[in-house]
Amino acid sequence: MMERQRLRALVERHCRSEYRLPISAAMEVAIRPAVEILRAAQTEGKKLVLDAGCGTGASTAVLAERDSTAFVVGVDRSAVRLRRAPTLPPNALLVRARLEEFWLLVHRAGIVFDRTLLLYPNPYPKQWQVGRRWYGHPILPTILATSRTLELRTTEQWYAEDFCYVLEFCQWQCVCVQLSASDTMTPFERKYAARQIPRWQVIATHEARS
Ligand SMILES: C[S@@+](CC[C@H](N)C(=O)[O-])C[C@H]1O[C@@H](n2cnc3c(N)ncnc32)[C@H](O)[C@@H]1O
Repeated sequence: MMERQRLRALVERHCRSEYRLPISAAMEVAIRPAVEILRAAQTEGKKLVLDAGCGTGASTAVLAERDSTAFVVGVDRSAVRLRRAPTLPPNALLVRARLEEFWLLVHRAGIVFDRTLLLYPNPYPKQWQVGRRWYGHPILPTILATSRTLELRTTEQWYAEDFCYVLEFCQWQCVCVQLSASDTMTPFERKYAARQIPRWQVIATHEARS
């Protein structure tokens, strides 16, 4: 089977089945307070933004500063990265957790993010790793169910193209552009831009959600 056909078969399988991941007590403790804060913010009509795999949280801070009416949550599993977090504005929160469990608990609580950002996710470039990329992962239907808009940034053009292929298969509309050198949110991005490494952005929306 060709790679795209294999990818499509994988995504079809994920869309047909429920992702049953046991949630550990430690993850419940880490995620529950954030879910309660998000639920309250949603009830107040605030715009909710998720910075998924936020690293040090530099982008979380920038997103919250750019829109003080939104509530921004950054989630990352790395304590080492989160320890280097900048001072956050009051409308931002960082959570150390695995995103898979975070998305499942957020979904169960009926929370939908206005924007979900996937900034430079690990590309897992080997073919056998396709199921670890967010667009090939069994959590994908839950990511889609908890997002009104998805924004991907990556230095890998093939990742952006496969992301669009999968989302369009799931009936989302995608716009993929190459980012200009001035469009940066983090020191990491400024480094890419300075080295003239091309960066790609996909904005994906779903008619029924936007
Ligand atoms: C390549 S880094 C990008 C970090 C940041 N978004 C940036 O642009 O600088 C990918 C980040 O995703 C986090 N990550 C990867 N898989 C994760 C998961 N399953 N749950 C939570 N965080 C995850 C890693 O810890 C890492 O910080």
